[in-house]
Amino acid sequence: MFESCGDVCREEKRRARVLCNSRRTKWSDSLAPNFGHPTRSFAFYSFPRLLDFILTAVYKNSTTMASPPITLVVASTPAPTLAIGKSLTNNMPWPRLPSEMSYFARVTRRVPPHPTTATHKYANAVIMGRKTWESLPPKYRPLPGRINVIVSRNSSTRSGSGKGVGGGEFWVGDIEEGVGLLRQKFPPPSSSSSSEGKEDEVAGLSLQLHQIFIIGGSQIYKLAMDLPKDSAAYPTRILHTTVLSPDYSNEEGVDVFFPPIDEGEWRKSGVERLVEVTGEEQATVEDVKKEEGVEFEFGLWERSTA
Ligand SMILES: NC(=O)c1ccc[n+]([C@@H]2O[C@H](COP(=O)([O-])OP(=O)(O)OC[C@H]3O[C@@H](n4cnc5c(N)ncnc54)[C@H](OP(=O)(O)O)[C@@H]3O)[C@@H](O)[C@H]2O)c1
Repeated sequence: MFESCGDVCREEKRRARVLCNSRRTKWSDSLAPNFGHPTRSFAFYSFPRLLDFILTAVYKNSTTMASPPITLVVASTPAPTLAIGKSLTNNMPWPRLPSEMSYFARVTRRVPPHPTTATHKYANAVIMGRKTWESLPPKYRPLPGRINVIVSRNSSTRSGSGKGVGGGEFWVGDIEEGVGLLRQKFPPPSSSSSSEGKEDEVAGLSLQLHQIFIIGGSQIYKLAMDLPKDSAAYPTRILHTTVLSPDYSNEEGVDVFFPPIDEGEWRKSGVERLVEVTGEEQATVEDVKKEEGVEFEFGLWERSTA
């Protein structure tokens, strides 16, 4: 929770800046003039109403724009190997890394706050392959706080558990079907009057899709990376945790890999951009981290051809 009004303002500005940046819209282009030079009528607003006004303007600005960014999230050994898993045991090569896992959870769950007057709230979605779904401990399925979508050739024979955000996990036959389903069921507020907009099980608010994360495994990453540019599911970012040491790439049983990242097509971004895109604090994402004897670092690739 926040300690003071100043903290709230800073946090809302920071989140809105992240939101605007994620839409390639400059915060300074959209709202900064209202902060710097409030009109006289603003003086009659109470603080909560002012906050609502600001947030609604940010949402309107963002949600009437094109589709949400689609981001791949992966942890791998360094290029060129890019090892991510062991097929026999259907798990990752390295031990559980709590701070890396909580980074993943925060980033994939983070959404803008909803105005108190709104009838909707935001949710992110995670799309994964059936094997990755099965690699999750049952108590974390579906992944909490996110809409879960699972890709399988047998999707028609599978049904959701009815648990979790959006009313349970959704089974689809490919990534594009998943993205289409998400956009149809959780459309932005501008078109919500004609939407199916599922109600959130806790707050009774309709859910609106904010961002989509494709979280693996190897087969699903490859499908996503190979999508044509005009696909609704075309990914433009990779949040890439590089596991630097020990070297797991040659360890016995490591046989699942991330597809090659073509540096003619993808550009590595700096830490400031990583902060903008994830909403994380700089200290959290900069420098090499060490945990459980494993060294790793957070990174971001962006599609230069997007
Ligand atoms: N390091 C990381 O960041 C990370 C992240 C995620 C996963 N992993 C690791 O990756 C491994 C799992 O990856 P994986 O590549 O074996 O499996 P996966 O991509 O998670 O799932 C594969 C499944 O997706 C479905 N699928 C694949 N292609 C399809 C298509 N064209 N159309 C419809 N459905 C399709 C199939 O499901 P059906 O068989 O049901 O048809 C297939 O068996 C595990 O070791 C896991 O720990 C690592």
